[in-house]
Amino acid sequence: MRFSLNVDHIATIRNARGEDQPDPVSVALIAEEAGVDGIVVHLREDRRHIKERDVRLLRELVKTKLDLEMAADEEIIKIACDVGPELATLVPEKRQELTTEGGLNVIDNISLLKDTIFELHNAEVEVSLFIEPDINVIDSAAEIDADFIEIHTGVFANARSEEEQFDELERIRAAVIHAKKLGLGVNAGHGINYQNIKIFKAVPDIDEISIGHAIIARAVFVGIKEAVQEMIRLMT
Ligand code: PXP
Repeated sequence: MRFSLNVDHIATIRNARGEDQPDPVSVALIAEEAGVDGIVVHLREDRRHIKERDVRLLRELVKTKLDLEMAADEEIIKIACDVGPELATLVPEKRQELTTEGGLNVIDNISLLKDTIFELHNAEVEVSLFIEPDINVIDSAAEIDADFIEIHTGVFANARSEEEQFDELERIRAAVIHAKKLGLGVNAGHGINYQNIKIFKAVPDIDEISIGHAIIARAVFVGIKEAVQEMIRLMT
């Protein structure tokens, strides 16, 4: 299982004072040296953390893999096609939310998502859909030619009992098997931390996990390099 670091929260701290530090691009480069397999940023329509300048600079400097999280929004699609990340992960986006709250409603937005995937493919950008671990939604993702799905792990991460956590893990396990049968790559993320990774890593065949908040929070105490390497040690 590979591991990508989401550096959005570094941009949140930077923007708190309208200054240029800490720079999410510098943090991404240190994380790469520490061993991450990719960098993730979410360019939101409201630019609340990551800015277009960050995405363009990351494109020039990231040596591993750049995953651009984004809404299926005309302006952002244009930027994505121009920048050319290795992967574009389509996520639902609401202005009021603190963070992405759940998977895409693929079935109700099928034609918008299909057109977006088509446009990104024309720019040679692979596309992942952030979805719940639901078999019907996975079928729809394959039908509209997604390359990857990213399974929303928030329900697993926020489970209030071991039983609830186990049930969700089984749902994720079944979803991975189904997606792999359809030829989709499978990523996962949201709410994964230093505790639940020990349970989550038992799910076979996940290509990549995307982690943000837990690593950045830990980095406040131990620095980004150590925070990344602690996670890598737990994953392997
Ligand atoms: N994957 C997606 C699609 C996300 O929106 C987020 C949150 O930015 C993550 C993964 C990472 O979640 P967390 O910050 O909880 O690790």
